[in-house]
Amino acid sequence: MKRSYFAALWLCLLFVATPGCAQKTDYSPTVGQAGKDVIWVPTPQTLVDTMLDMAKVTASDYVIDLGSGDGRLVIGAAQRGATALGIEYNEELVALAILAAKEEGVSAKATFKKADIFESDFSQATVITMYLLQSLNLKLRPKILNMKPGTRIVSNSFDMEEWKPDQTTTLEGAAPEGASSSWQTAHLWIVPAKVDGAWKLANGQIRFVQNFQNITGTLTIKEKTTALVGKLDGNKIRFSAGDVEYVGTVSGNTISGTHGGGVSWKATR
Ligand SMILES: C[S@@+](CC[C@H](N)C(=O)[O-])C[C@H]1O[C@@H](n2cnc3c(N)ncnc32)[C@H](O)[C@@H]1O
Repeated sequence: MKRSYFAALWLCLLFVATPGCAQKTDYSPTVGQAGKDVIWVPTPQTLVDTMLDMAKVTASDYVIDLGSGDGRLVIGAAQRGATALGIEYNEELVALAILAAKEEGVSAKATFKKADIFESDFSQATVITMYLLQSLNLKLRPKILNMKPGTRIVSNSFDMEEWKPDQTTTLEGAAPEGASSSWQTAHLWIVPAKVDGAWKLANGQIRFVQNFQNITGTLTIKEKTTALVGKLDGNKIRFSAGDVEYVGTVSGNTISGTHGGGVSWKATR
């Protein structure tokens, strides 16, 4: 969203008679004001754009911002054509965000609801954005790990402890006025498919030990066992066993792909 937009919105909020203001409101949130589980601090626009870039948001996405504040991430996603929902506990912020979406002409794509993120079902999202706290990210983590493999999660500033991000971006340059010290960093995770355990091959078996997106384990073919190490990127799997590279796609209880540059393999459980 254009930075100038929020300046205009603030003017709308202060001087409700300003032409072009969609609707009047005299609510004016204060940076750092209390929220149900975390205070309101808006993500600077540069980082909003970076977060949406990192998640590669397109028109086919359904983006949910958990604790959506004044709606800037939801509106930014809708401006990229995505369907987007903001879940926010403070109803005055919800009203402000609805007004902002209207002002930006994206009300059809950007909607908001007053709800507690911990009591909400966000399982249908293809992208989750959030600016909460590490402790809240960790509380949400089990639900997030149960989302569809490939779902992208982007967090302003706060990580998810031992679930290391797939990507971290830190913006260069000076912080915008009034921004917190962690204004410039965003993390991205891709929800990995679940592969932990034993899988059968036509001529042997694989045992995966999964640690979030990282895998170790063994590959046994014709009674010869080799250690393996690899990674998951959503439902895409890649590992090496000895000097052989395996790639594949996980689809429920089947993994199919190629190894050694073109030989097909398939595992089931
Ligand atoms: C740090 S602000 C981030 C706002 C917005 N996502 C952004 O990045 O600009 C966190 C927001 O979460 C909201 N919030 C806190 N606890 C919540 C809860 N349990 N359910 C829904 N919203 C909550 C706060 O009111 C606040 O607007």
